[in-house]
Amino acid sequence: MANQEDAFKKVVSHAKEYGFIFPSSEIYDGLGAVYDYGQLGTELKNNIKQYWWKSMVQYHENIVGIDSAIFMHPKIWKASGHVDAFNDPLIDNKDSKKRYRADVLIEDHIAKIEEKINKEIEKAKKRFGEAFDEAQFRATNARVLENQAKIDEITNRFSECLNANDLEGLRQLIIDLEIACPISGTRNWTEVRQFNLMFATQMGSVSEGSDTIYLRPETAQGIFVNFLNVQKSGRMKIPFGIAQIGKAFRNEIVARQFIFRMREFEQMEMQFFVRPGTELEWFKHWKEERLRWHLALGIPAENYRYHDHEKLAHYANAATDIEFKFPFGFKELEGIHSRTNFDLTRHSEFSGKKLQYFDAELNENYTPYVIETSIGVDRTFLAVFSHALKDEVLEDGSTRTVLSLPAVLAPYKAAILPLVKKDGLPEKAREIMDMLKYDFMMQYDEKDAIGRRYRRQDAIGTPYCITVDNDTLTDNSVTIRERDTMKQERISIDNLRAYLHEHIQPIKVD
Ligand code: GAP
Repeated sequence: MANQEDAFKKVVSHAKEYGFIFPSSEIYDGLGAVYDYGQLGTELKNNIKQYWWKSMVQYHENIVGIDSAIFMHPKIWKASGHVDAFNDPLIDNKDSKKRYRADVLIEDHIAKIEEKINKEIEKAKKRFGEAFDEAQFRATNARVLENQAKIDEITNRFSECLNANDLEGLRQLIIDLEIACPISGTRNWTEVRQFNLMFATQMGSVSEGSDTIYLRPETAQGIFVNFLNVQKSGRMKIPFGIAQIGKAFRNEIVARQFIFRMREFEQMEMQFFVRPGTELEWFKHWKEERLRWHLALGIPAENYRYHDHEKLAHYANAATDIEFKFPFGFKELEGIHSRTNFDLTRHSEFSGKKLQYFDAELNENYTPYVIETSIGVDRTFLAVFSHALKDEVLEDGSTRTVLSLPAVLAPYKAAILPLVKKDGLPEKAREIMDMLKYDFMMQYDEKDAIGRRYRRQDAIGTPYCITVDNDTLTDNSVTIRERDTMKQERISIDNLRAYLHEHIQPIKVD
């Protein structure tokens, strides 16, 4: 595809055209950074959630899943630190009146310099071919070294400002880097201010005197406040985990990049409770396990990287992100955090209830330490979808758009296509559909020429097309076509179910 921007536009338009994702409230001109999943998007999203749930809950005897409410007691967000510290630094351009996240303006500036380095590398790769040694090139090329030095200097100043919560320092950095507003083109900036990301609402029928409550900005707190309920009712022994999938809400100011940064989104989170002192071992374990989970989807490893946090949140003693190469560059897909005993301790303090565990082996009570794995459903959707979408030139020179989703995630597992709409073929095709639909999500399609129907199924990621032709009526066989190779084979209808089960296996990662 021509370039990153075109590739990303294609992802957004394909998602809409084929019923995966629509802008929310579209007939009213949409609502910023809120999206609806359509008929195919919902299937893909459900399959992603099921893959996560199975590998976390079903395949681990010591992890159980819950579904806590979105509304929670307001004190929870005081205890967790979200009321006081869940902020983004914002800056306004006085001419365009547009508001930006100060940290994002700086990160984008760094990304532009990185882009220059990547261009040099691409050029050199082409020039030197097989003999190209990227590490050596990075260490010796003058232009690369100069740009890398700029990045290092900006990154240092940037982290110092963030660590010291130095808002004036952030503003000065934006001015020194001569960052201009993309709309007005001017550098006429306001002060930087902190803006809390939680949505507040009122509980009760009359707003006067009623309590302000928040839409949860993460699902994790629903797990912490249920720690004792689950541990006691499930007789859980440390180490054990509690998993949850659910909606979270953040009033993101710079909400863009489609479903990458939304105001209403879904998280898949797991809190793993361990003995104090063992948390860094478990952090390493989950860091590796989570990358294995991603790689099991079959997306090549070069699309993922770890980004270890240098600046740790006050409650964490280790943190890393798994970043994915989205169409707009490497960005966070999942976070793995060693959260110490911060959350349970704070909830004990604020609720007055002791949230401790009696370890029979040690004969001792303690507040468990926690390793968290936290991944966005929507970001996983975007990662899988954007990686799968391809335009291919075929041997005969024609092109096709194919969505090479892992079979287990595809919305439909197979399509049943009668070759023509007569001679008893539709009836036979419906018979096969009825035989398979209890095991697999299937689609029946008899409209248009067979070639066009194949293309439609390629575009929505259906891994198998089953064609019923005149011979089917006499030899009880069908043609099955595989999406990626486009290879066709003839198989007996009696073997179809077993064939699909064999080729569409659940992914097993524990
Ligand atoms: N409980 C920890 C937590 O919430 P986070 O890094 O703020 O950590 C975890 O969020 C994951 O949730 C991210 O890695 C991302 O996949 C997803 N996420 C966060 N904010 C999001 C947003 N505005 N839109 C879509 N996904 C988001």
